[in-house]
Amino acid sequence: MADVTADLEAGTALEIGCGEGADAVWLAERGWRVTAVDLSPTAIRRARAVAAERGLSDRLSFVVGSGADAAPPGTFDLVSASFLHSWDEDFPRIPLLRAAADRVAGGGHLLVVSHAAAPPWSTGHGDGHTPRLLPPEEELRLLALDPDAWEHVLVETRRREVTDPDGRPATLEDGILLLRRRPERTQITDA
Ligand SMILES: C[S@@+](CC[C@H](N)C(=O)[O-])C[C@H]1O[C@@H](n2cnc3c(N)ncnc32)[C@H](O)[C@@H]1O
Repeated sequence: MADVTADLEAGTALEIGCGEGADAVWLAERGWRVTAVDLSPTAIRRARAVAAERGLSDRLSFVVGSGADAAPPGTFDLVSASFLHSWDEDFPRIPLLRAAADRVAGGGHLLVVSHAAAPPWSTGHGDGHTPRLLPPEEELRLLALDPDAWEHVLVETRRREVTDPDGRPATLEDGILLLRRRPERTQITDA
């Protein structure tokens, strides 16, 4: 998230599935006014505590609720979702991301950072009882956003070196989707 948004001009941001608020705090520290939503009251309580500790409460609004509908009405310059995955078999990831996309202002960005593949040490993926992890190209296809309205800025998988639970080096694959909503065209009519 930091790599991809560092060059965007700060404005308003909405984050869906903010967890304990690390991304939202990062954005607020760089001048964004952020609304961040999560289902978990515990995560939101912790996020609010960090925001208060860092003196960011006036730039950060944390909301307990589900998806973009939990945020106040309106559009945002950046709408982001990082690792919005769940073990729930019926988790409506794509509908949640579509609703998030609906809240992007003209000229603004949608950023989706995801697990593009299971960690090499994990077992059980693909057995029908674990999250279906898809490459960003496939998620973009499932989102089925209007091609005339959206510019594809980044659609790629980035590899990240980590240490696995047994202390060995391992590589994770992060999906990155950065899409820009084209500004509405102003109709110029003859007087
Ligand atoms: C894997 S965590 C990722 C947290 C954070 N974005 C990060 O990158 O560390 C997924 C988060 O999504 C939240 N979540 C799941 N379904 C949600 C929904 N419908 N609306 C809002 N948040 C949701 C969970 O409570 C959890 O905090």
